[in-house]
Amino acid sequence: MKIEPFGIEMWMNEHETRCLHNAAESCVDSVTLAELTAMAGKTGVLMDELLPLKLTYGAIQGSARLRRAIAALYRGRTEDEVVVTHGAIGANALLYQTLIEPGDEVVAVVPTYQQHTSIPESQGAEVKRLVLREEEGYLPNLDELASLVTPRTRLISLTNPNNPTGALIDEASLRAIAEIAARHDAWVICDEVYRGINQTGDDLSPSIAEISDKGVAVGSMSKAFALAGLRLGWIVAPPELLHRVMIHRDYDTISVGAIDDHLAAIALENRDALLARNRDVVRTNLARLATWMEREPRLSWVRPAGGTVTLLRYDASIGSVEFCTRLLEKTGVLLAPGAAFGVEGTVRIGFGNGAAALAGGLEGLSRFLRSLPT
Ligand SMILES: Cc1ncc(COP(=O)(O)O)c(C=O)c1O
Repeated sequence: MKIEPFGIEMWMNEHETRCLHNAAESCVDSVTLAELTAMAGKTGVLMDELLPLKLTYGAIQGSARLRRAIAALYRGRTEDEVVVTHGAIGANALLYQTLIEPGDEVVAVVPTYQQHTSIPESQGAEVKRLVLREEEGYLPNLDELASLVTPRTRLISLTNPNNPTGALIDEASLRAIAEIAARHDAWVICDEVYRGINQTGDDLSPSIAEISDKGVAVGSMSKAFALAGLRLGWIVAPPELLHRVMIHRDYDTISVGAIDDHLAAIALENRDALLARNRDVVRTNLARLATWMEREPRLSWVRPAGGTVTLLRYDASIGSVEFCTRLLEKTGVLLAPGAAFGVEGTVRIGFGNGAAALAGGLEGLSRFLRSLPT
């Protein structure tokens, strides 16, 4: 089965370990095991919990304890509606494997995480792109969405908050999207890995799993929870869909690591402290980025409402891969090219990483912009 190369993952694989200032990162500055155990009040006792753990495959679908903690992130959902996966990347792949047949139609917002377009295309589906426009705040145009959905539409896919723009779809629009999907009995898959760290409010923003019977939420420990090293994500969906997902999952997952499952449960049981720390990181960094943007006349943006990344539009007549390559060579600053998301003339910057990475990144980017002909 042929598939398009994954633009952003290839870019990050090639460059992220070789830069001085990683301002392309999309995870919140990851926590150490020591920080996590301290947050959970388990300093000095974690090893007592882990050492007796027999390293079997563990609970196949994810432990009941972990699935309960995940279900608690969604109003009205229970552990029977949760399956644990190898990251959100595993969750998304499983959902497309389960739901898509050749000839189906998928309506995907773009820009988005490329799994949501390239996987269904590789499966022989027709992917109709709902373009998120800068002048509309990178939010989906609902009239346009309604015109793209047909009786052949198997699913609509969203990333909320969005990667790469940081735009946040509100509850009213999520309800309207669910209603459009329901006209043709389509699923709504919402990749919500950035949920929990918005710029305002301390509550979790509405999830599609709280809004619609055919809403499927994908989540992860990687981004908002700053624990990418666990490689642990999940799907929240009605049991009959999860049953179908499990048929595929038996072929490519079996279970996630028992230690990862245990640590993820601890993290989610202490989610208030973890999310408060992570909101503080993204809010402090975004405030710095916004102040810096005011002094950079060659850049423009739609200020993000959530997530850890956003697009900056630049006013030079070079492509975004060349922009990022030259920036990296001259200054050691890593950004991600908008071309990896199909949005030329822009670069993606991350504001979830440590303050030093952002400060170094902005300083280098300012110098580079001054040296760049228009
Ligand atoms: C929107 C989105 N979905 C899924 C993933 C994959 O996340 P995970 O680390 O949980 O596999 C990413 C990673 O960048 C992402 O941005």
